[in-house]
Amino acid sequence: MTGAQLPVIVVGCGVAGLATALAAAPRPVLLIGRQTVGQDCASALAQGGIAAAMGHGDSPAEHARDTLAAGAGHNRPDAVRYLVDHAVVAVRWLQTLGVEFDRDGDKLALGREGGHHLHRILHAGGDASGAALLAALHRAALRAAHIQWQPPCDVDALLLRDQCVAGVRVRDRDGRENALECSEAVLATGGIGALFAATTNPAGADGSGLALAMAAGAPALDLEFMQFHPTALAVAGNGALPLITEALRGAGAVLCDDDGARIMAGRHPLADLAPRDLVARQVWQVLQAGGRAWLDATAVTGDWQRRFPTVDAICRRHGIDPRTQRIPVTPAAHFHMGGIAVDFDGRTAIRGLHAVGETACNGVHGANRLASNSLLEGIVYGRRLGRLLADVRLSACRSGSHRLVERGQSATDSALAELRALSWRALGPVRDGATMRQALAHIHHDAALHSSWQGKLVTRMLEAALLRRRSLGAHYRQDAEKRQSVQSVPLRSLQG
Ligand code: SIN
Repeated sequence: MTGAQLPVIVVGCGVAGLATALAAAPRPVLLIGRQTVGQDCASALAQGGIAAAMGHGDSPAEHARDTLAAGAGHNRPDAVRYLVDHAVVAVRWLQTLGVEFDRDGDKLALGREGGHHLHRILHAGGDASGAALLAALHRAALRAAHIQWQPPCDVDALLLRDQCVAGVRVRDRDGRENALECSEAVLATGGIGALFAATTNPAGADGSGLALAMAAGAPALDLEFMQFHPTALAVAGNGALPLITEALRGAGAVLCDDDGARIMAGRHPLADLAPRDLVARQVWQVLQAGGRAWLDATAVTGDWQRRFPTVDAICRRHGIDPRTQRIPVTPAAHFHMGGIAVDFDGRTAIRGLHAVGETACNGVHGANRLASNSLLEGIVYGRRLGRLLADVRLSACRSGSHRLVERGQSATDSALAELRALSWRALGPVRDGATMRQALAHIHHDAALHSSWQGKLVTRMLEAALLRRRSLGAHYRQDAEKRQSVQSVPLRSLQG
């Protein structure tokens, strides 16, 4: 096969991977996922919707302002501008694929979530937005003649030829390996929440693509910035905690402690809808003080079955009627702002290797992502990358010696459980240098931990978090003075 005929390999079948694959037409694309579409995928669990400035009095500039304020000004302004400027186009495109956004009479219904000053969140199927978007993208990808599907398997190595990506090695469920050549590879493998003991992410969000790119020498960026969602359902169990969407607070739910006192009262002008990092820390403080934190959604009116079917079902599975009873909540690792360093077009530092969505970091989210900007990012930047790939004539090096870069040994189940507990303790919503240094030394002295790719990834996160001595956005160090408050972030960089 010539380079022009070789497929673009897209690793990851969430929203970002599917949007990239669709936009790459007519280039042949081979889609590879660890599971069938929708399983073990954070996109499918996303309850919040997609942010777009479509309401009265709103504008992309307002959306950008909230994105920058949530991101503590650490965002790359041109990446933010591109995101917000393309939000409405993304919504229209999704509608052409058959996504039916929720309506309020003859208008699109717009909700509110943390950090947004205005109503600008579109939902589909109420709080089942991610699943609705994914289903539409999946249908479109199944129809697309340029897309082929690899049966579920893990990509555990990159094939480099003369410093360019020329293929991947896949391992199927029976452990059989196979090398697949490509013209370019795209990593759209999602986040790393599964490396934390408390997370809203599925088990597959374990940083596999990030670890692979780093093993190949691609620089990573902002690894210390992990977002914690303030309201995962506080239930015992190993694995993903069910999310209780922030949209409930947009609809009037409030956080309170055991005595019914409002947790966010007087903490921020937006109170319960303050940026997520602030709310998560307040909830964390209540739990650390030995109390419990509750989401009181009893004031939320309207049709729960239509607006919040997912939360309703989750709560009922745990014996809670959210219309009449408070919901116990805890912060949980939710979204990684850091990732494989990419430019505006999703290029990593390795020729032929691209990354998009949560596994990538182009700086759009800064130090803390604004709610409902991640499905948007996956669509907007996935389509941008796909269009770029569609235009590429022949990019990867076609001659030279081959080299296989392996992600490395996987942690055993018990090592992984230990690592997840350690990450939660040392890299959770409130951090301090001593605990992080101890965690680093612990990994270093434990062969089962430091020899695994998961252990190496957590080591890199700890190192990044130790290097950032001041608090910023979701990276909060109680042993340091906060460099600047969210309210004093200069927003001028976006204007003019
Ligand atoms: C939520 O529904 O609370 C999560 C939304 C998001 O993570 O953007």
